[in-house]
Amino acid sequence: MSRPKILMTNPSIPKIAFDILGLKCELIHTKDDKRETILEKVAGVDAIFWATKENLDKEVLDLAGPQMKTIGTMSVGVNNIDVEELKKRGIKLGNTRGVLFDAVADVAVLLALAAARRLREGRMKIEQNQWTPGLGWMLGQDVVGSTIGIVGLGEIGQTVLKRFKSFNVAKFLYTGHRESQQGKELGGNFVSLETLVKESDFIIVCVPLTSETKSMFNDNIFSKMKSTAVFVNVSRGEVVDQDALIRALKDNKIFAAGLDVTTPEPLPPDHELLKLPNLVLLPHLGSATTNTRNAMAELTAQNILRGLGGEEMFSPVC
Ligand code: DGY
Repeated sequence: MSRPKILMTNPSIPKIAFDILGLKCELIHTKDDKRETILEKVAGVDAIFWATKENLDKEVLDLAGPQMKTIGTMSVGVNNIDVEELKKRGIKLGNTRGVLFDAVADVAVLLALAAARRLREGRMKIEQNQWTPGLGWMLGQDVVGSTIGIVGLGEIGQTVLKRFKSFNVAKFLYTGHRESQQGKELGGNFVSLETLVKESDFIIVCVPLTSETKSMFNDNIFSKMKSTAVFVNVSRGEVVDQDALIRALKDNKIFAAGLDVTTPEPLPPDHELLKLPNLVLLPHLGSATTNTRNAMAELTAQNILRGLGGEEMFSPVC
């Protein structure tokens, strides 16, 4: 019997995935993770290892052909994938739920602390020879005794909450579709988004990007936050109306922000976000540790093998 063909959409996929899949399948390699390259190579494959921010849409699926019924994406987010179209065509999709929440939660905590304690501004002061210590100089915000609001209490949000428990915070709020058992067990109080942004000292965004969450943080929502609030986003840039965030930071409507995700990505080096002293920025490094990326690659490979074998994937999306 011929070996199933799998398109590996990124030459930087960790080796473990090539090792696992290469034992049983014929692997089609790409020279980069660009859409045009993928479109050139996708015809006739049985499965796709999706490891790119490009959109996986009808065009890709049409070119792949009707035999292609299995996709594994090396991400937890599926906002770049037309899941409804996959469902219509009976194509199985698996993501990397379950292996990256620790790494992403670490980055959320890192950004919250760095923004609250003015990490970027402090460094700028040194570089600009403006180190002028005084008792009221460069004061930040405390985590101890604070109210932490988590928007989206999925596995990343829950892990963020657990991390912050050791900081002796006063209260945890969370919002989402509904109150959850996990939220209760973790001591979180379920509230509306409006109440959360009004009452929280730290607002940490962990929701997936969907049509419902797109631009949910806009001028109106930023205007309800405390002037001492620290805003953190580790989900997707598009969840935030970025111009509204820039206005809120420039006008000191909120104290500071920490972002792992932006619009666009990569962000041009002359972008306005980079000029804000009260913003700590990372280039989408949430899951970027060696162990996490290896675990994501391995899970994606296993999902694909299960899909090809007609079994339920370990972390199915559809
Ligand atoms: C994901 O898996 O969706 C992350 O954003 C990748 O870092």
